[in-house]
Amino acid sequence: MQTVRVELGERSYEVTIGPALLASLGERVRQVSGATRLAVISDRTVFDLYGRAAIASLTSAGFTVAHHLIEPGDASKSLAVASEIYDTLYDAKIDRSSCLIALGGGVVGDLTGFVAATWLRGVPFVQVATTLEADIDASVGGKTAVNHPKGKNLIGAFHQPVAVMMDTDVLRTLSARDIRAGLSESIKHGVIRDAAFFEFHEQHAEEILRLETSVIEPLLAKNVAIKASVVGEDEREHGVRAILNFGHTIGHAVEVLGGYGTYRHGEAVAIGMVAAGRIAVLQGRWTQSQCDRMERVIERFELPTRAANLDAEAMIDAMQRDKKVKNGKIRFVLPTRMGFVDVFDDITVEQMREGIRAIGM
Ligand SMILES: NC(=O)c1ccc[n+]([C@@H]2O[C@H](COP(=O)([O-])OP(=O)(O)OC[C@H]3O[C@@H](n4cnc5c(N)ncnc54)[C@H](O)[C@@H]3O)[C@@H](O)[C@H]2O)c1
Ligand SMILES: [Zn+2]
Repeated sequence: MQTVRVELGERSYEVTIGPALLASLGERVRQVSGATRLAVISDRTVFDLYGRAAIASLTSAGFTVAHHLIEPGDASKSLAVASEIYDTLYDAKIDRSSCLIALGGGVVGDLTGFVAATWLRGVPFVQVATTLEADIDASVGGKTAVNHPKGKNLIGAFHQPVAVMMDTDVLRTLSARDIRAGLSESIKHGVIRDAAFFEFHEQHAEEILRLETSVIEPLLAKNVAIKASVVGEDEREHGVRAILNFGHTIGHAVEVLGGYGTYRHGEAVAIGMVAAGRIAVLQGRWTQSQCDRMERVIERFELPTRAANLDAEAMIDAMQRDKKVKNGKIRFVLPTRMGFVDVFDDITVEQMREGIRAIGM
């Protein structure tokens, strides 16, 4: 078992990573909360698999536990579903001394975090992450959100959890595709912040894909530490936190134009990283050999590096609408050497077209 601390002053918290953690959930919540009442929020798939164990652990630690189940999938990240959860919290007499427990992936985490940020102007919540996407990215950093019909994550708040738990055993029920897609942002963390960690992916790709405990626990701990250090420097994304968007400018356009559902988020980010790497090479900021090296690792994780039917002009248009655009300029996070990136806004439209051509089939 490993523990990584997310250092955010009075909002600091610990992330616990390891096998068989679900059984000690009650004890862990007891350490961070004086609550008597809890509400567990989960989706039906996760709850069928792990709900009983989670609730047993919580009740045996003396808590009174209500629960609310949502349908799996991003469509549940809505104000309508949040409103149904508020009804459950009201009936269960959840007050500011209570605690919410998010049991699930990024959808359950973002939604529960949003509800926790807004119910009674803010109640504590604990994240029990059950997907690699949540372990590597979504559960650390305090971004919570629901979707608006016009766009993803448009309604939200910054609200940090009081503790995060990542049980590595629960990952075994994920589909192979979700495992690969979830690992995309682990590769990203290496490229943007830690060359040795990038190399870890080169050396252990097969063991990582098999979720071997000897590699998966240190891999998750490193991801949490990298994300925590970036978020610790810039909790509300005024500056350095933007580097986490490496691969996301073009990746997001691939995701939107491919139609949500065609690509998993991590797959679109993998394609976006290849395009951004190519743009960095065109601008003379990165070497072709390092860009090729990144692409080879993405391929070894069986993630896509190319996308079919890309319309460059529509993609550039979509990028200009992205909420991360500042003063009309598209900002790109580009590698300058392995483990280092910077944010640039001087990419010409021709270079963007060339980057997009590089990921075409
Ligand atoms: N807040 C952030 O910083 C942040 C960062 C990245 C992503 N996100 C958000 O996270 C969401 C995506 O997260 P996700 O990929 O975890 O999606 P998800 O929560 O929908 O989980 C994916 C699927 O896996 C199932 N599942 C979950 N755990 C399982 C397990 N252990 N075994 C078997 N099946 C399991 C779920 O029921 C679901 O069908 C998006 O809404 C995205 O916006 C947020
Ligand atoms: Zn992402």
